Amino acid sequence: MAKSKAQATGAVEILREQHDKVKKAFKQFEKLDREDTEAQQQLVQTVCEDLKLHTTLEEELFYPAAREAIDDEDLLNEAQVEHETAKMLIEQLENMSGDDPNFHATFTVLGEYVLHHVKEEEGEMFPQVQETDLDLEELGTRMRSRMQELMGEIEEEEKERS
Ligand SMILES: [Fe+2]
Ligand SMILES: [Fe+2]
Repeated sequence: MAKSKAQATGAVEILREQHDKVKKAFKQFEKLDREDTEAQQQLVQTVCEDLKLHTTLEEELFYPAAREAIDDEDLLNEAQVEHETAKMLIEQLENMSGDDPNFHATFTVLGEYVLHHVKEEEGEMFPQVQETDLDLEELGTRMRSRMQELMGEIEEEEKERS
């Protein structure tokens, strides 16, 4: 907590920071005017991009390291399945217009899913990983550099689209 001003460096800190950001955005969404489809769409797009970045980081780097470090295959498998479901909802949202009757509901369901998933990661997976001798600083460094790469790719895609 006291470290909040410095940039998060450890793997768990980075992931927690990203969790907090999307959790805040889901709360913000609830407060948006239901008629303001543009504002809703913009927020949904940001959250979807943040979540895609986050799940990729976990799947490419954090989960494999956690799988090695802790002896809980079920936990890791469940997390992976939850990612697949979240990605399905994200894809649906990306192909939906803001005035689609299911737009609001789909994002709300995604929010419930993400909240549940984050609770398990922060409540079970992270504490277990933190008890092992996995070098979370070193993993965090690799995650940061992969994140830079991925963000660069997203920017490129955006440029191509516009
Ligand atoms: Fe996850
Ligand atoms: Fe996560």
